[in-house]
Amino acid sequence: MPLYSAKVMDHFRNPRNVGSIENADGVGEVGNAVCGDIMKIYLKIDDDIITDVKFETFGCGSAIASSSMATEMIKGKPVSEVLQLTNKAVTEALDGLPAHKLHCSVLAEEAIKAAIEDYYKKSQVQ
Ligand code: FES
Repeated sequence: MPLYSAKVMDHFRNPRNVGSIENADGVGEVGNAVCGDIMKIYLKIDDDIITDVKFETFGCGSAIASSSMATEMIKGKPVSEVLQLTNKAVTEALDGLPAHKLHCSVLAEEAIKAAIEDYYKKSQVQ
C-alpha cells in the first residue's frame, strides 16, 4: 500500500480553499513547535454558519491536504457543528495518514478552533 492515500495526494496537489479572506470574522493561526509548520484559517460567518473559509499553510504535504479537506468539511456548516470536528474525522476523510503524520491533521483541528475562538472574541466586542 502506498504511504499516502489517493485523497491525500489529490488534496496536496490540488488544495481547495487556499488563500486569505479580507475582513474575516475569525482568524486562527497555530503551529507545531517540533516540525515548525504553521497553519492559518480564515472564516466568514453569517448567522452562525461558516459561509466561507480559506487557509494558508506553510507546512508539509499532509498539513496542506489536512487543511484542504478540513475546509471542505466545514464550509456551509453551523459553528456548533464545526466545533465538534476532530483531527480523527479529517484523517478518516483523507482515507488515513501515516502515524508520524497524524499531528499534521491536529493542526487543522486546532486552527479551526482558534479561528472560532477569535470569532467569539470579536463578536463580544461589537
Ligand atoms: Fe508537521 Fe506535517 S510535518 S505539520
